[in-house]
This record gives sequence, structure tokens and C-alpha cells, in this order.
Amino acid sequence: MIPRFLTDFSLERLPRVKTDVIVIGSGIAGLFTSIRASETQKVLMITKKSLSDSNTQFAQGGIAAVIADDDSPAAHRQDTLIAGAGLCSTAAVDVLVHEGPKGVDDLIRMGTNFDLENGELALTQEGAHSRRRILHAHGDATGAEIVRALSDQVLHNKNIEIWNDHFVIDLITYDDVCYGAIVQKPDGQKIFVTGKATVLCSGGVGQLYRYTTNPDVATGDGIAMAYRAGADIRDVEFIQFHPTVLYYPGAPRFLISEAVRGEGAILRNINGERFMERYHPQLELAPRDIVARAIVSEIERTKSTFVYLDITHESAEMVKHRFPTIYQFCLNYGLDLTTDWIPVAPAAHYMMGGVKTDLNGETSIRRLFACGEVSATGVHGANRLASNSLSEAIVFGRRIVNQILSLTPLEALPEIKAELHRQDPPIQPVIEKRLKLQKIMLRNAAFKRSAIGLSKGLEDLKRQMPLFNALLSRREEYEFANLLVCATLTTQAALLREESRGAHYREDFPERDDLRWRKHIVLNREKGISEESVENV
Ligand code: SIN
Repeated sequence: MIPRFLTDFSLERLPRVKTDVIVIGSGIAGLFTSIRASETQKVLMITKKSLSDSNTQFAQGGIAAVIADDDSPAAHRQDTLIAGAGLCSTAAVDVLVHEGPKGVDDLIRMGTNFDLENGELALTQEGAHSRRRILHAHGDATGAEIVRALSDQVLHNKNIEIWNDHFVIDLITYDDVCYGAIVQKPDGQKIFVTGKATVLCSGGVGQLYRYTTNPDVATGDGIAMAYRAGADIRDVEFIQFHPTVLYYPGAPRFLISEAVRGEGAILRNINGERFMERYHPQLELAPRDIVARAIVSEIERTKSTFVYLDITHESAEMVKHRFPTIYQFCLNYGLDLTTDWIPVAPAAHYMMGGVKTDLNGETSIRRLFACGEVSATGVHGANRLASNSLSEAIVFGRRIVNQILSLTPLEALPEIKAELHRQDPPIQPVIEKRLKLQKIMLRNAAFKRSAIGLSKGLEDLKRQMPLFNALLSRREEYEFANLLVCATLTTQAALLREESRGAHYREDFPERDDLRWRKHIVLNREKGISEESVENV
């Protein structure tokens, strides 16, 4: 059984820090929400590393929004719903497509310099989009530009206090109301931070898998702590694998943006054959889950470990101008994007599910909000449309701040004690445990799943559970515990879903089954597992 708290404490003995809004995480969701909230509130932003350590920093392709004259919210909505494979909440998608442009205006006002073409915002194409609607910055460094601009604002804002290198261990709740969180300072001291609203902006779970585009901070902390606190967790069986991630000896798994295919790149197997014709009429620009699985099938068929991405037929000038970061990165490993085919393979990239929220970003626990990848707003369904993630963070970040403004002050919190029984540190070093967990997930709960593999995975994960009886005290230990929670939830939900849909593919149930499974799976620590119908408006 996953315990309520990861650590022992007595709340009344902990030092207390009071603020208005607690923001946990420093990617686009955390930065944006903090800036908007700071207009009227005192904000405490807590990050376990630094402002530049987030998934956002690595986002290349960009941010999807209805900007062009030939585009419309209806077209963006339609593309999002098709990619989401029948599991999107249409109400949430409507919010996204209508409010996206306002969020983009905010980003520009906050200092983000998007690329321009003839004085207008430049727009590119990505998979499963029917229009060019992706804004980008410095060609392929969109996330880094957003982080630069927003960090600059946050650092100079007197209403925002930033705590770097602080680890949020658990949320403090009573009667389904969130009062704040237990935070460990860099020197190991624990404190109770309390505020009228707590906003999880802690990102995703890429580190569940050995091969991922995510940085090492992506350990699912927000999802795990919200689950322990009794929040509803939804759609966590849907993990998106990005189709084209650099696969080259000695090089890290570096993202090669979908925009490269958007600008004309094609995929070839190791025999040099273009293969997407055999998989989908939209070829290389089919939805991501389809391209990723097609690549895995080609890899298996040709007994290889990668396929090639080929953009050598486009002009070298365009390639260098549009993709300066990717071009330079590949060149560091002797690969020239303008003349060489680039070896790529899929890697874990994004979790569609997370902490379930309403249309104002509030979770099933009052005063606890979730924004960005940690959340399950209903926008992404079973498969996220490319570049909808940054848009989701700003659209729902705006709504969360509006909702926080309507909150009354917190009432006094009754005393809470976590059981004091843990004495010994974990037996095995957690770094070994993390590698083992990543192996379990890759083998049993990645691209192609089955009841046999998922059951085996679940058994292997259960064997790690005694960790929760140990006295955890270091960041790595908390992170591993959080990964173990998320791995268990993902595997449980994937085992339950006996069909294939979007990013979830079951070899033993290869068809989509709308009659039985056009539903969400919701996991709750206290109430167990339930099914929820898809919200259609
Ligand atoms: C990419 O540039 O391909 C990543 C964008 C995204 O994940 O939406």
C-alpha cells in the first residue's frame, strides 16, 4: 500500500512559512502562473533545482495557437480531438483553442520574442495539424526563449520569492482541502509552507523510462504527492513517445523536433526505404502515436535499433536557419543535418494524464490546482497534438489565477501527525533502483503492452514497495519513491484498459473499443479505481 506521507513529522513542531500562493515547479506553467498571480498576491515559487531545470527549457517545436487568417478555433479543435483518439474533453479543448491567442499575447507582453516573418508571427507545421499554427523562437529554441523571458520577469518581481534546491515532499490536506506542503530545505530541515492556494506545476514522468527526452528532474513528484493526498489521478496509462529522438553512439537522447518533419523531412528504414506510406495517409505528419509505432515496427522488421530522418533534399540554408540548435547539436557528433540522414528512435516524451482538474485547473482537493504536464485537464485525450502542451499551460494558468482571486482566506488547520515509525534508511542505493524501475517500465509498459507483460511489471514494482517503510531523507530517495508511485499507477491503468487507443497499445487487444472503453480510468488512493465517462459538449 502506498502510504499517505513519505516522511514522518509532527506539524506543530515544524517551522511555518505563510504566503498567499505556493507554486511548485518552474517550467512554463510555474513561471507563467507565478507572474500572473503576483499582480495581486504574494507568491512563493519552489523548485527542486533551479529555474532553468525543466522540460520547458528543452521544448523545440513551439506553441500551437490560432493566429493565421486561414486558421480557426474550429480547425484547431478538430485536429486536437482527432489526435486525442476519442478521449478529449471537448469543453477543455474549446477553452484551449479559444483562449490560446490571449495566452500568447501575455507571453509576448512578458518579453518572449517569437520568430517573425515579414513583420508577422512566423508559423510552422507539425504532425496532425491541418494548418501552420506553431509559433517558435530562435528557430528551434522556443522553450529556452520562453524560460529566458519569464525567468527574467520572475527574478525582478518583488511579489515573487523563489526557493531553489528545495524539495516539496508532501501536501498537507484536511477534509479534502489543501493547506500547503512539507518542504525540505537544502540543509535537510523540514518546514511547513502554507497558503490559500497551492499550484502543482511540477511537470511529467519521463524518468519512468530509460530513454526519454525529459531531463532528470521529470520524476512525477506532483502526480505522486497528489495521489498520496487523495486527489483523483486520470489517464496515466497514456504516455507519449516522441517518434524522432537522436539515436547515436555516445550522444544523449536529444529531441529532433517534429517541426523538422513539418518542414519536409521524411523517414527511411535502415535499408533506405521511405515507409510511412504503409502506415498512414498523412505519412510523416500522422499523429505521433502512429508515427512512433510505425518506427518501432520498422525497427523490428529490419532487425535494427533505429530509422533515419532525412531532410537532405531541402535547402541547407533553410535547415540551418530554422533548426540552428538541432543542426549544431548533431554536428557536435559528426552528423550534418543538411547532408546526412540522422539516426533516430522513439523515446518517452510526455504524459497525457495526471492530476485531474476542472476547467479552472482545480483538482478534486479544494485549493489544490494543477497546471501543465502534471495536470489532466482533458485537453490531450489519449494522445497529445504536437505543441498543445505549452498552450495548455498558459491557458489554464490564466484560469487558475482567476480562480485563486475568488478564494476566501484559509481557516485554521487542525493538528496533523504522520506516523513516527520509520527508522532505517533504504537498503539498496536508489540510483540502482531507478535504473531497475526504468527497465521494468521499458520492457512491460512502453510501446507495445500485454496482460502478461503488465502483470509481470506490476509484480516487479510491488517488490520495491518496502521502500515506503524506510526512513527517506534525500532528494534522490523521494524522487525514486515518486517514480514508484507513478509507475504503479501507469501499469495498473494500462493493465485495466483492454483495448488500443492513442498512445496506449495492447498487443492482446489491438483494436480500439469505443463501446467498452470510451472512458477515463481514475485512480484514487482512498476510493480505489473507477471509470469516468468522457465529457462531450
Ligand atoms: C517537438 O518539437 O517535436 C516537440 C513539441 C511537442 O512535444 O509538442
